[in-house]
This record gives sequence, structure tokens and C-alpha cells, in this order.
Amino acid sequence: MKAGDACYNAGMAAHFSTRLPWPSPPNALSSERARLLSEGRALLNLVEANPSRVGLSPFVPGFLPHEVAAASGLAALATASILRYEPDPRGLLPAREALTAFLGLRFPGHDPAPDRIFLAASTSEAYSWLFKLLAEPGDAILVPKPGYPLFDYLAGLEALEPRRYGLAYAHPHGWRIDLDSLAAGLEGGRARAIVLINPNNPTGSFIAAEERRAILELAGRHGAALIVDEVFFGFPLESRERSTFLGEEGVLTFVLDGLSKLLCLPQMKLGWIAISGPRAEVEEATGRLEIVADTYLSAGTPVMRALPAWLGAVPALQTRVGERLAANLSSLRSILEGPTSPHRVLRCEGGWTALVEAPRVASEDELALGLMHDEGLIVHPGYYFDMEREAFFALSLILEPAAFTHAARRYAAWFERILSLS
Ligand SMILES: Cc1ncc(COP(=O)(O)O)c(C=O)c1O
Repeated sequence: MKAGDACYNAGMAAHFSTRLPWPSPPNALSSERARLLSEGRALLNLVEANPSRVGLSPFVPGFLPHEVAAASGLAALATASILRYEPDPRGLLPAREALTAFLGLRFPGHDPAPDRIFLAASTSEAYSWLFKLLAEPGDAILVPKPGYPLFDYLAGLEALEPRRYGLAYAHPHGWRIDLDSLAAGLEGGRARAIVLINPNNPTGSFIAAEERRAILELAGRHGAALIVDEVFFGFPLESRERSTFLGEEGVLTFVLDGLSKLLCLPQMKLGWIAISGPRAEVEEATGRLEIVADTYLSAGTPVMRALPAWLGAVPALQTRVGERLAANLSSLRSILEGPTSPHRVLRCEGGWTALVEAPRVASEDELALGLMHDEGLIVHPGYYFDMEREAFFALSLILEPAAFTHAARRYAAWFERILSLS
């Protein structure tokens, strides 16, 4: 036996936490996708959610008006101030002050004071901090269904139960929160927070005024805090009404946002939490959250230093992204809708995703595999998002419009062929 081969652990293997789902084999769609790519097939990703892969960036030459690009470019990273490390659990003060000013312009009267803002590396990390702040292992966090699949992981990694409340769809009016299911979730005990996504991913639905009143009443009655994810708030499409939860005073409220969507810069890793609510609760929450944030000190100095300049690009960038989202949604409707069409495009109030209902001639997985195999199209089945029934697909609206239209036509043509054979 060589020296490096020594085995000291003859009896017991290491323990692994059950917070992680394991084993974690790839599903049928990912395996098929990997296989086709390994054969050199060109696939068109109709669920691309990464803006940096579809030309959406304030730093792509010509994407923003020259004067905006000049004032808020990559040069903001090249400053001597990034050479100093000045740890602050809430994040550097100039960055938080810039956020206060920016949010004050967008939402007059709702701007959080700088000492009520915490900077983190992403909104995903902000969730984990809030879950640590609010809940004991074994407690529950209420999350929307259909919803963003990451919650099983975000909650699971904090040893929390992600407990679902429902959203119901009525065509063409849109989605509404099933308030009875929310109340039942709260009555199930140990529910410490309600996660609201405004607008929700993938349903695109904003929280309506009457829903907001009912939720505040329920949260107050059960002592549950609100965690409101507004990363898609700046991208309205077919919305009727929308209002931010920033500055909500009724119950302890944490509003999340970040550069991932606001400026199409997920790679820069900056998210934030804005806190409001009854004064005593806010004071205790900020004091306690400071301990969580101080443990990690996650936000990077370069991005915090660049933030004040970059925030100036948000209005122009959101106009450009909004034009693309609207153009893609409109071409999706013109390709898939019609009096005799077997497809339905669900009402999409906002966000980066459209949900389409397909004829259920096979299971979602079989349909998605067929689309991938025959047309080279990658789509996400509705069950990834906990849709109540089949067959739905989520399509990304951030694709470059010519590629999106081409893919949507192939999607429609494939179903036409399948239906003509059945
Ligand atoms: C609703 C929602 N919140 C948060 C995120 C993640 O944002 P971040 O990159 O800041 O973690 C996503 C990503 O798609 C999302 O859909």
C-alpha cells in the first residue's frame, strides 16, 4: 500500500444531509437533450432565461441610446474605490443610497430608507437569509402553485417545508390567488412567511388590490411575514393593475429585487431586500438580519460601487426589453390563436414567460420529447412549475424575435402534423 492510499475510515461512511434531494438523476428531457447535443444536433432553446445569451445587456454596443450607455457602462467597475474592502453587513452605503433615490423616483412615497435595505449576492440568497431570519427547522413557508421550482431547494436547504397555496386560471381573465388555500396553509400551523411573486413566474400574474387586502389581513391574523419577490415588476404586458409592496406598513414585509432581471445582469450577482412594516417589528428584523448578513458579507465591492451609475440605465433598458417581450407575445398569439386553433395562450400580465396550453394528445413529457426530437425545440412542461393538469408549456419571451417567431412556427407546425396523424 502506498502512503497516499491509507484508509482510516474502515467502518463508517460520512453522513450527508437530507436537506438535499439525493440521488438526483437527470430527468428524461435533460438526458435526451444531452444525447442530442452530443450527436451535434442544433437545438433551439425556447426556454432560454439567461439574458446574456440572447443579446440583452446594457453593455451590448448599440443596445441602449448612446448617452445612457456612456453614463452607465462597464467603466463604472474600473474605479480605484473597488480596491478597498470596507465590510458593511447591509452593503456599502453609497449603493443603498442610490437604491433609495432610484426607488423614490419609480415609486414616489414608497422608497425605503438606506438603513432598511440589505444587499446580497442575489435574490435567491436573499430568500435564504430571510428563511433563516423567520423560521425554525420544520416550520413552513407558503409558496405559490404554479410557481418557480427553486422553492423546493431554497426551503429544503433551510430545513423548511415549502407549503403550497393555489392560483386558479379563468380564461381570458387570468390568474387569481385561491385565498381559501392560502388560509388553509396558514391554519396548518408553523407557517412563518407568505411568499408572493409580483408578478408570479410562470403565470405572469400581479397581485390584485383585493387579493392584497385579504393577504394582509390573513398574514396579520397568523403572524406571518410577507416576502414579496418583485424581480419581474418592471416588465408589465397584459396587466390591468399593479402595485408594489415597497413601503407596505400593514405587516412585516420584505421586498426582493436584483440586477438579474432589473438590468439583465445575473452575472454581476447583486440582489437586495427592502424592509417595511410596523416600526418595532422592522427594527427587530433589521437588527437580526444584520447578524445573518454579517455572517456572509456576500455582495461584491465592484458591483456595489458600480450600482449608482448603472441604475441610470434601468428605464432605457426596460423599454427595450419590454418591446421585445411584447413583440414575442404578440407573435405567439398570432401564430397559435384562431377560432379553430387547438392551442391557447394564457393571459400574461407580465414577466419573461408565456404559458401555452397544448392539445393533450400525449403526456407533457412525450410532447416535449417529440418537439425536441423532431423539431430541435426545447420547451419546459407545465409540471415543472406544478401546474394542476396537463398539457402546458412555458416559453421564454426574451428570445431574439426572429428566433422566437421561427421556433413558435415550428412548434405550431409540429402539433398540426401530430394532430393530422391522430
Ligand atoms: C421569480 C424569481 N425570483 C428570483 C429569481 C432569481 O433571481 P437571482 O438571480 O437574483 O437569484 C428568478 C430567476 O429566474 C425568478 O424567476
